[in-house]
Amino acid sequence: MRNPIIAALDVPTAEAALKLAQQLAPAVGAFKIGKELFVAAGPDIVKKIRATGAAVFLDLKFHDIPNTVAKAVAAATRLDVQMLTIHTSGGGEMMRAAEKAAQDTAKSLGLTAPLVLGVTVLTSSNNETLAEIGCAADTEKQVLRLAQLAVQSGLRGLVCSPLEIVALRKILPPHIQLVTPGIRTGAEKADDQKRTLTPREAMQAGASWLVVGRPIYASENPRLAAEKILESLN
Ligand code: C5P
Repeated sequence: MRNPIIAALDVPTAEAALKLAQQLAPAVGAFKIGKELFVAAGPDIVKKIRATGAAVFLDLKFHDIPNTVAKAVAAATRLDVQMLTIHTSGGGEMMRAAEKAAQDTAKSLGLTAPLVLGVTVLTSSNNETLAEIGCAADTEKQVLRLAQLAVQSGLRGLVCSPLEIVALRKILPPHIQLVTPGIRTGAEKADDQKRTLTPREAMQAGASWLVVGRPIYASENPRLAAEKILESLN
């Protein structure tokens, strides 16, 4: 079985990220580099983590005009990341352009195209947030709608909250990969994640990958925490 744990490197510096990645490498399947680390440390941190042989999920959630997103996806593909994110609310044309850029760039370099993951409704949004921006749908319906649009637009994966997995699995083709943050083991202190599942529950519900941040990097022994999560899946 492949290791489905993606450890989020939500730390502020390249040094801290590399140290954490070194500690965790044997126990996880990939590392997620998000906005904080990327803005602080730049593409160099992606190259350094890739140079260790580890897979990288570049979580920058692109949302712009199709041409700009396509160019950003092409640049990320040249960094040889294995997964990256775009906002599905950018629309079908933007998503098609992103997927095409990933495929074409990878092909021209002899690389495997990164999995372009669609983000639907951010978990920080609720019905009031959607109403505020002029969207009459409720969040659940909007998640399903955007997920279907993403699949129709050629995306092969989505980011979703643990509590959306079952509903999405019912309507999506089985090849779609679901990447799920909001994972909590129960051992850690309560924080801002409100809708959580355990790693085992999320995999049983149909997740393909688990994004785990604080339960690993904020624990006293990150390597041990990752190993325990992996064990809990068997
Ligand atoms: O520390 P924690 O396990 O909550 O980290 C989860 C990671 O997944 C963070 O990097 C966070 O930005 C990301 N994420 C999330 N919820 C979403 C989308 C992404 O927690 N809906």
